[in-house]
Amino acid sequence: DGILNSLDTLTEEEQLLQESVRRFANEVVAPKVREMDENEMMDPEIIKGLYEQGLMGIETPADYGGAESSFTAAIIAIEELAKVDPSVSVLCDVHNTLVNTIFRKHGTKEQQEKFLPLLSESKLGSFCLSEPASGSDAFALKTRAEKIGDDYIINGSKMWITNSYEAEIFLIFANVDPSKGYKGITCFAATRDMGIQIAKKEQKLGIRASSTCTLNFDDLKVPAANIIGGVGQGYKIAIECLNEGRIGIAAQMIGLAQGAFDKAVPYTYQRVQFGQPVGHFQGMQFQIADAATDIAAARLLTYNAARRKEEGKSFTKEAAMAKLVASRVAQSVSGAAIEWAGGVGFTRETGIEKYWRDSKIGAIYEGTSNIQLQTIAKFIQKEYS
Ligand code: CAA
Ligand code: FAD
Repeated sequence: DGILNSLDTLTEEEQLLQESVRRFANEVVAPKVREMDENEMMDPEIIKGLYEQGLMGIETPADYGGAESSFTAAIIAIEELAKVDPSVSVLCDVHNTLVNTIFRKHGTKEQQEKFLPLLSESKLGSFCLSEPASGSDAFALKTRAEKIGDDYIINGSKMWITNSYEAEIFLIFANVDPSKGYKGITCFAATRDMGIQIAKKEQKLGIRASSTCTLNFDDLKVPAANIIGGVGQGYKIAIECLNEGRIGIAAQMIGLAQGAFDKAVPYTYQRVQFGQPVGHFQGMQFQIADAATDIAAARLLTYNAARRKEEGKSFTKEAAMAKLVASRVAQSVSGAAIEWAGGVGFTRETGIEKYWRDSKIGAIYEGTSNIQLQTIAKFIQKEYS
């Protein structure tokens, strides 16, 4: 195991998890990556495999069917899956760091008893915040929830919802009282059988096996008992959970960069031009060394943010920095990896070009790079003025 693939600070348990996810990714996911990308569809067997591996409730208490492991363990799994397929990685990431986390942290005992075992055993989750007219300005969402008797009636539309094509459980953010602004935003747990329909499935540049859909809610009836964390608490729940989720996306991006690196670098030592392996030319060696350093730096930022979160320290600024840097590194390393393999890197056969296509999303979802910069800037201003 090279220095790029390991961190000195992982516990024995975390190392074992890392090895088992790596094995699953290489043996089960890898053979299907190209087909899933071309078909723009996740293979249901992969989702089933993630459940069998115990990766769909990593932090969930054992009493609710989960692995009761650490946040860092969830991050390790995301990174390892992304080395092989960033689409599979984000499916697991959203399910764990967003959906499971919200039930675990904010659900009542009854809600946890009802939903967490399902989420650990077989039912996929999705996190429905963004809308056609509110992406970065997420708290300006227009989806409304109106109380009628013991139920809420939800009307509106959500856009860009990861996992929503396959999901059974949906966390929907809707405003119950727009006169209160974002303090009316409330989080509802809904299930597909309540009548959730897919309005459109996106065709994308990258992470094509990961589903991204628009959902329209037309008088969707959700029991008041399915409100998570209390009326008006939704905005806080969403952003606090996204602070954690951003560490997950950073992990996805470093895994992606590492995956591209691992595919392209060995090729440079095999490909001979001018009588020697192209990887022996200093012009290549320095690019490779730069890329290795960038990945290591992004990884340290990411795991530092994860450990801070685990230790109960502030981590919002660190999470934003990790996501910002890791998504830049993913894009630059995967782009360079294509060039290191020359024409071969440009074909779909090697899979290197796919990492580059997949890398672009890192600077967009869970807060664009400008939103991460804005978050970091707010902290700096507070600290220095
Ligand atoms: N952490 C904790 N609280 C935060 C926060 C943060 N990072 N940013 C803002 N807040 C709180 C503020 O403290 C304030 O709360 P109080 O009134 O209780 O004090 C409230 O949020 C509003 O603050 P602002 O007026 O400063 O915020 P804003 O309305 O200008 O923007 C934001 C806030 C919408 C959270 C924005 O900063 C943001 O992050 N936008 C990006 C949205 C996003 O990440 N969407 C991801 C969708 S999920 C996804 O993408 C999943 C996937 O792809 C896989
Ligand atoms: P906009 O907010 O319209 O931004 C456009 C540009 O303007 C960006 O460059 C942005 O940085 C810039 N900009 C905006 N505001 C500012 C500002 N104040 N200062 C400086 N620049 C600014 N959402 C979910 O809720 N759940 C999901 O599961 C989910 N999955 C997704 C999966 C994919 C593949 C994609 C593409 C998106 C997903 N999203 C999801 C939505 C994602 O979070 C949003 O796309 C993202 O937050 C950006 O919003 P937007 O697309 O509306 O861009």
